[in-house]
Amino acid sequence: MILKNKLNISNQVELSIAEEKISKQKAKQLFDSGDISKTEIGTFAGLSFIHTYLFADIYDFAGKVREVNIAKGNFRFAPLMYLKQSLEHINDMPQRSFDEIIEKYVEMNIAHPFREGNGRATRIWLDLILKKELGQVVDWNLVDKDDYLSAMQRSVVKDIEIKVLLKQALTNQVDDRALFMKGIDVSYYYEGYNEFKTEEL
Ligand SMILES: Nc1ncnc2c1ncn2[C@@H]1O[C@H](COP(=O)(O)OP(=O)(O)OP(=O)(O)O)[C@@H](O)[C@H]1O
Ligand SMILES: [Mg+2]
Repeated sequence: MILKNKLNISNQVELSIAEEKISKQKAKQLFDSGDISKTEIGTFAGLSFIHTYLFADIYDFAGKVREVNIAKGNFRFAPLMYLKQSLEHINDMPQRSFDEIIEKYVEMNIAHPFREGNGRATRIWLDLILKKELGQVVDWNLVDKDDYLSAMQRSVVKDIEIKVLLKQALTNQVDDRALFMKGIDVSYYYEGYNEFKTEEL
């Protein structure tokens, strides 16, 4: 079933292409306008700000907590009944070290607060925490798609694989524009979006 959208598109392929194009333009604007610095770091409010920024022109639910249960593969993300309290708990989770930050990221992934676009928004949110607390970000070019997705599937049980995978990809190039744009492309590629290069939009 295709998601109701503000573009009045009823074809899934067409929607995917439009969503990729518009939200990548927004991601680029988020960085180039400096609005990214307005993001509250490490909270649901901050993640919601990013999600709204990327998807507000496409979906009514941008930035809003989902109202349906969702699953991927055989994993069910946080049930609606516990979602609000889970997000409050995540807000309070510490983020003093690399391990604590990844643990927080894993919990936010389990929460999966939005109807769609969780993976892409939450990776930007993660990088902002790493930047503030450690002065580093992930160079997503160094993180293989299959390794990443399998480590994330595994992370709901054990987080060692995602910690090892992301740790080897840390870089000090925190304000590098090209790295940010490439990172968006890689992040979208993980989710099957590969039509446009952010830099060229
Ligand atoms: N089976 C799973 N168990 C745990 N985490 C998963 C699983 N599958 C995917 N993920 C994580 O969720 C992210 C996004 O997955 P999913 O496609 O379900 O969400 P989404 O809301 O559609 O996000 P996006 O639109 O950005 O893809 C993945 O990048 C990965 O980090
Ligand atoms: Mg998706």
